[in-house]
Amino acid sequence: MSIKIMGTGSALPELVVTNKELEQMMDTTDEWITSRTGIRKRHIAVTETTTLMAVKASEIAMKKAGIEPEEIDLIIVGTVSGDKCFPSTACQIQEALLAKNAVAFDINAACAGFLFGLTIADAYFQSGRAQTALIVGAETLSKMVDWKDRSTCVLFGDGAGAAVVRKTDTGMLHIVQGSDGTRGHVLACDNRPVNTPFTRRLFTKEFFARASFAGESFPGAACTREFSGDNLSAPDYLKMDGQEVFRFAVRTVPKAICQALEKAGILPDEIQYFFLHQANIRIIEAVAKKLGQPMEKFPTNLQKCGNISAASVPILLDHVNREEKLKRGDKIVMAGFGAGLTWGAAVIIW
Ligand code: UT7
Repeated sequence: MSIKIMGTGSALPELVVTNKELEQMMDTTDEWITSRTGIRKRHIAVTETTTLMAVKASEIAMKKAGIEPEEIDLIIVGTVSGDKCFPSTACQIQEALLAKNAVAFDINAACAGFLFGLTIADAYFQSGRAQTALIVGAETLSKMVDWKDRSTCVLFGDGAGAAVVRKTDTGMLHIVQGSDGTRGHVLACDNRPVNTPFTRRLFTKEFFARASFAGESFPGAACTREFSGDNLSAPDYLKMDGQEVFRFAVRTVPKAICQALEKAGILPDEIQYFFLHQANIRIIEAVAKKLGQPMEKFPTNLQKCGNISAASVPILLDHVNREEKLKRGDKIVMAGFGAGLTWGAAVIIW
């Protein structure tokens, strides 16, 4: 019971890539992409970076909230595609905004990143560690996908969304979050493998095949590629078992939303809008059906933006907020789900 959203902001790259353009680049069709996902176009970064878009979205959110940089005491960024391994995107935002009183860090909860950020801010507020937080979801997934893999590259887009949230007595009613690391492999992207003069000498494929760790097979074995030669520093691309993720989403998201609503003592009918992660229109339709709610209550922007992972929920929230469709006192739900696997759902009074 401690979070109120004071202002939202978002930023998208200038370049828009349509399904028709993708048709020219690979073996796909506008018809396939539209009918299977609802996506018609997406914004793709050319000169924009994760941090630049995050800063822009944050500045807009702060302006809307009427907040000065010094008032922010917490910056949390959900991202899987920061520009640097370190410093974190959050620390780079802190520098750009001159938010000198903030503690800043990134979290990796993939498409549930914004929801996880809200949960952490809530905990900081409840423990008295912070009063005003900037929560950001920012992604440049176009650099993580294999542009030769039509089953994934057509789905994702780039962008950033931000919200300034404040400690209050009446804002957030309930939030649930969950993770299932046992199914992490269904949506994964390897980082740089260990690549030193020592690995080249010792860590052959045979080593990993034989190695054991506490009686289990060595965790690194699953993500080894060619451990000989100098190509080892190239990071891998995002890989997804789409159908598995789809099944996970339609099972888990309605359940999480129902749990959050039940704990908050609110019925689905009382909710003005459900802001769901924008992965696939068919997932959103399935969730709406399971909750017995009309699609008009589920705003979407995936048609124009594609799937922007952690940024998708805050960008959607900002788009609807900009259209002045939200009134103070409205009850809303936000839900994110994705790699990890991770998921989160929040019931909030606007
Ligand atoms: O943000 C994280 C959360 N992510 C998600 O929630 C994604 C969840 N999954 C999905 O949204 C869907 O599973 C996808 C949109 C990814 C895929 O849709 P699908 O209906 O599950 O298709 P599929 O993977 O079963 O593929 C069906 C066919 C295959 O051909 P065959 O084997 O039936 O001949 C694919 O090779 O569609 C083919 N295909 C394509 N065809 C044209 C896959 N990608 C494409 C493409 N263009 N881009």
